[in-house]
Amino acid sequence: MVAAVLAAAGSGERLGADRPKAFVRLGDRPLLAESLERLEASEWIEAIVIAAPPEWEEPAILLAEELGCGKVNACVTGGATRGESVRLALVEVPDEAAVVVVHDAARPLVQDEVVERVLAPLGEGWDGAVPALPLADTIKRVRGDEVVETLDRSELRAVQTPQAFVATVLREAYSAGPVDASDCASLVEARGGRVKVVAGDPRLIKVTDAADLERVAAFL
Ligand code: C5P
Repeated sequence: MVAAVLAAAGSGERLGADRPKAFVRLGDRPLLAESLERLEASEWIEAIVIAAPPEWEEPAILLAEELGCGKVNACVTGGATRGESVRLALVEVPDEAAVVVVHDAARPLVQDEVVERVLAPLGEGWDGAVPALPLADTIKRVRGDEVVETLDRSELRAVQTPQAFVATVLREAYSAGPVDASDCASLVEARGGRVKVVAGDPRLIKVTDAADLERVAAFL
C-alpha cells in the first residue's frame, strides 16, 4: 500500500493573510483543496494523512469530507516545523503502507505522473526518490553580502515534492526525535539512504507569497 502525508501545517506568514497558508483562497477554494483532491484522485495513493495547523484540524476534516476524500484516514495537528509535522503525521500512516509519499500542500499542482515518477525507483532498490528541476540562475554561496564561492550549476537541482520513500526507511529517519529539515530526503540521505532524482514539474510551484498564488491560479 502507498500512503501519502500531506504537510499543510505551515503558518504562511509571508502571504500576509489572516489564516494559515493551506486555507488561503486559490480561486474559490482553500489552497489545501487542490492538492488534497489530486492525491485523492491518484491512481497510486490509497491512504492520506493530513498535518493541519493547530486549531485548523476541524476545517481540514470538513474540507476532506466536502471533497469526498475517502482516502483520508487521519488528520493530525502539525508541529512547529515541517519536519515535526511530517513526524507526527507518520505516526498515523497505516502499518500496511510499504511506501510513503510526502507532499507539501504549498505545491497545489501535483500531477499523478510525478507521483508515478517518484514511485518507480523504489521498485528498483532505491530508498527514496525526489522530483527536481535544473537551475536557471547561477548559485553563489555568500557570507553577509560577500560572495564566498560560485557553485557548479550543472551539479545542482531545485528539489520539489512529492517525495517517495520506503516506509521503514522514512520512519527510521524520523525516529531520532525533533527534526528541522527542509525536506524528508535530506534526513534519509544523512542516514546513508540512496535517493534518486527524477524529472520534476515546472507546475509544482511552491506558494510562498501572493505572486506565487497568481502564478498557480493561471494554471487552473
Ligand atoms: O513554510 P514552507 O512553505 O516552506 O512549508 C512547506 C510545507 O510544509 C507547506 O506545505 C507547509 O504547510 C508545511 N509545513 C508544515 N508544518 C510546519 C511548517 C510547514 O506542515 N510547521
